[in-house]
Amino acid sequence: MTKQTKPLFIRNASQLVTMEGGSEAPLVGKQMEQIQVIENGSVWLEDGVIRSVGSDEELVEAYRDRLGEADIIDASGKLVTPGLVDPHTHLVHAGTRENEFNMRLQGATYMEIMNNGGGIHATTTATRKADHQQLFSESKKRLDLFLLHGVTTVEAKSGYGLTLEAEIKQLEVAKQLHEQHPVDIVSTFMGAHAVPREYKENPDRFVDIVIDEMIPEVARRRLAEFNDVFCERGVFTPEQSKRILEAGMKHGLLPKIHADEIEPYEGAELAAEIGAVSADHLLRASDNGIRMMAEKGVIAVLLPGTAFFLMAESANGRKMIDAGVPVAISTDCNPGSSPTVSLPLIMNLGCLKMGMTPAEVLAAATINAAHAIKRADRIGSIEPGKQADITIFDVPNYMVLQYRYGVNHVHTVVKGGVKVVDGGRLA
Ligand code: NIG
Ligand code: FE
Repeated sequence: MTKQTKPLFIRNASQLVTMEGGSEAPLVGKQMEQIQVIENGSVWLEDGVIRSVGSDEELVEAYRDRLGEADIIDASGKLVTPGLVDPHTHLVHAGTRENEFNMRLQGATYMEIMNNGGGIHATTTATRKADHQQLFSESKKRLDLFLLHGVTTVEAKSGYGLTLEAEIKQLEVAKQLHEQHPVDIVSTFMGAHAVPREYKENPDRFVDIVIDEMIPEVARRRLAEFNDVFCERGVFTPEQSKRILEAGMKHGLLPKIHADEIEPYEGAELAAEIGAVSADHLLRASDNGIRMMAEKGVIAVLLPGTAFFLMAESANGRKMIDAGVPVAISTDCNPGSSPTVSLPLIMNLGCLKMGMTPAEVLAAATINAAHAIKRADRIGSIEPGKQADITIFDVPNYMVLQYRYGVNHVHTVVKGGVKVVDGGRLA
């Protein structure tokens, strides 16, 4: 990415939300509500880094002699936030599954479709068939849309290859996108996304392949930082999931888990037991699992768009925050259970379906999301020294962002100090 040499001075936002104070540890409980807001706020960016944050008066005073050097963005009447962070996506895949959407609207369930060879299996077939170039161009389109919705970093999982070669193909596409696209990508290996149909009769053999062949090779090639597993009845048992996540840890891959999405299956408990970085979904998590996650500081990555799209009851975000679990929020962008890139819409659903406040969802989509992908030292807040990733919304305050739902309010996005979205369009 080209670095802007001229300083960039974003001036006079009606609200500048900094998320200050959450970089060491994720925000929990009441901290998620008490976010830092500067009225008439300004921020000085230079060499791709945030240099100074404060009221417009303070910054004009501090940079009096250098104002002429900088490019200026007038943010008056607008909301300035840290670039949004999406900590759970299945970005790299081929094809769509609108046929299954139609079947579900007529009563078929997500799991029935998957058990009949559709669902993840259908996308696996399409992704195995696609060459690198096709996967790259389909995924790049989605990444452009993420950026247009204010997202500057996404986590991306493999898991639609389910052979070593095809998993590596997905991870290499993610790596190339990271290198070439303004949005940063953090990769997760998810070879244990489904038991491929070739191993239907012998799932443990597939688990062995994930552990003995895939994990070591992915780690050796440094293609992922995290290891994720779909722990769900009929997919991977808690015992298999534990083996897979522990094997990843031995190779330096940090554990994440798709937990208690469709049925209660003690996924939250497992996440706490092994010290996972995050447990994601948690629609059916038990009270005991939630308590254990709070104790161990496991981040709950909540995906209310998935519940909405699967017509299921959302995770109880309110209960988790009140129990002291650090909560992050994400699109789960994937072709089956949540084909969206609109993190702002997911934030609206966080308010409407999970009992979270506008301040809490903003914390969940910035600093806590950064923690869920181990990037809170660099992104997720507007503080001196952090990467200059900033989103500017054409709304006067952060409550209006949640209240006027279903509309893309993104006006400007700055990535690494460079303006990459301007007037709602890719720059
Ligand atoms: O997070 N639950 C497993 N994985 C995805 C769905 C993947 C798909 O349906 O293609 C999820 O919901
Ligand atoms: Fe997912």
